[in-house]
Amino acid sequence: MSKKFYITTPIYYPSASPHLGHAYCTTLSDVIARGKRMRGYDTFFLTGLDEHGEKIEENAKAKGITPQEFVDEVAVKFIDLWKTMGISYDHFIRTTDKSHVETVKKIFSRFAKQDDVYLSSYEGWYCVHEESYWTETQVGPEHLCPECHRPVEKKEEPAYFFRCSKYVGDLLKFYDEHPDFVIPEGRKTEMINNFIKPGLTDLCVTRTTFDWGIPINEAAGHVIYVWLDALTNYISALGYLQEDDSLFKRFWEDPETEIVHVIGADINRFHTIYWPMFLEALGLREPTHVFVHGLMMMKDGKMSKSKGNVIPVPPLVEHFGVDAVRYYLTREIVFGQDGQFTPEQFVDRLNIDLANDLGNLLNRTVSMIEKYFGGEIPPYEGDLNDLDRNLYDAARETVRTYESLVDSLKVTEAYASVMDLVSKANKYIEQSAPWALAKDPEKKPLLASCMAHLAGVLFLAGELLSPILITKSNDLFDQLGLAKEERTYEKATSLSSLGGHRVVKGTPLFPRLDVAKETEFIKNLMAAPKEKAAA
Ligand code: ME8
Repeated sequence: MSKKFYITTPIYYPSASPHLGHAYCTTLSDVIARGKRMRGYDTFFLTGLDEHGEKIEENAKAKGITPQEFVDEVAVKFIDLWKTMGISYDHFIRTTDKSHVETVKKIFSRFAKQDDVYLSSYEGWYCVHEESYWTETQVGPEHLCPECHRPVEKKEEPAYFFRCSKYVGDLLKFYDEHPDFVIPEGRKTEMINNFIKPGLTDLCVTRTTFDWGIPINEAAGHVIYVWLDALTNYISALGYLQEDDSLFKRFWEDPETEIVHVIGADINRFHTIYWPMFLEALGLREPTHVFVHGLMMMKDGKMSKSKGNVIPVPPLVEHFGVDAVRYYLTREIVFGQDGQFTPEQFVDRLNIDLANDLGNLLNRTVSMIEKYFGGEIPPYEGDLNDLDRNLYDAARETVRTYESLVDSLKVTEAYASVMDLVSKANKYIEQSAPWALAKDPEKKPLLASCMAHLAGVLFLAGELLSPILITKSNDLFDQLGLAKEERTYEKATSLSSLGGHRVVKGTPLFPRLDVAKETEFIKNLMAAPKEKAAA
């Protein structure tokens, strides 16, 4: 039985068009999902949209259309973007899906029966933008939302509350028993210090002041407050409490399934405090990891539509190619930290890693095999000297490092280790000096061995990078003359001989970019009128 892996992105609000920040999280998740599939895991990858809430209702009203029409329009933009980015999701959930709505209603009824929720009234500082209530301390004397810094308003309304107090002990015990539940661990400490230690208040789970939400059966006028609705997507998408719950049984109910929620730090509280409590109340297992990634910042702070500092993704992909953008997103932001987007870094990253290192390695290798061996890759006949041995030792070590880093969700570092191998292979060429070997007929075996090693490392690097480079890895394999059925993880990582394959020289994998010209192109995109940028 293959190992099972279930990975999710947040379900985004369709209140605005998607931007590079959304693309970052979704690409990262896609790279992880593809990497697991490549290694034979039974994988399910979920993304989607969080379509209810007051903000959507207001946006739709402003446009003179119904909330459903509004979300239908934005959903198309997200689905198109994921197609452009090559996102290999298995299911796209929308919280307006009938099956999701039914599951949420059933969950609420169960909570009501179990006395996990109770009717009371809520008074608090509410931020419409974040759809969150905040405490007096959190909004401070200026009454600003601690998350988005917009003014908050005082509100009171009848509401159902989830009894967090009942589950907080279980949550702390769970944290203790699963030290790697939240990755990086510091994000859990933040939650304990900021929310649990000061005393966790019960969570408001219904609202009565707007209509665009899932109505409950227990009382008229209440719709489910957006977080209970939203978080539940991770199980409703698998068929929880639905007629066909085969995916739920296959992935969630199996305690061996590794379940990973990839989220940004802005929604950590909901995923690492309330979600485990809801699951506990339902008697369901917890996810294995919540991976809290850093945010992609611009010079003037967080990238957001309201600030007008978003990078439109489709023209970026159209101009630089999908692989280049995916590579930049995966490599640039280090595990768990915030990253800053600058056009210069974007272009430099592509030039240094993809054009100079990877592209050049392939180009040099294929040219030399053509020149010295008439285009036929010589067979691998063992390591003939220390240089050969060191390169293949490094290659084997890279596979181990890559797997262990990806498995602990250190994706950026995992791919850095692959690129490190590519640099080593370039150095190996300098040290082996094949042009000198070619001059001496007695050194032919060493020359052949050098080419065999380079071909092996290129195959391996191409395979390990294929979750990111979804099109160029195939161009690389084409140039090595590999048949489609040979392009497997097992074959690439075994470093077995590629002797006899005929190389096929193609165009450079990644052209070298003119830094001044290309940074100018990106700057123009950023300065484009808002309507164009939102496309
Ligand atoms: O919070 N950099 O939806 P949302 C990196 N519907 N990632 C970013 C980003 C940036 N600048 N901006 C957004 C919601 N993101 C809820 C989620 S889940 C049950 C419900 C990513 O549209 C990041 O992953 O505001 C962040 O957590 C998420 O988008 C928030 O998306």
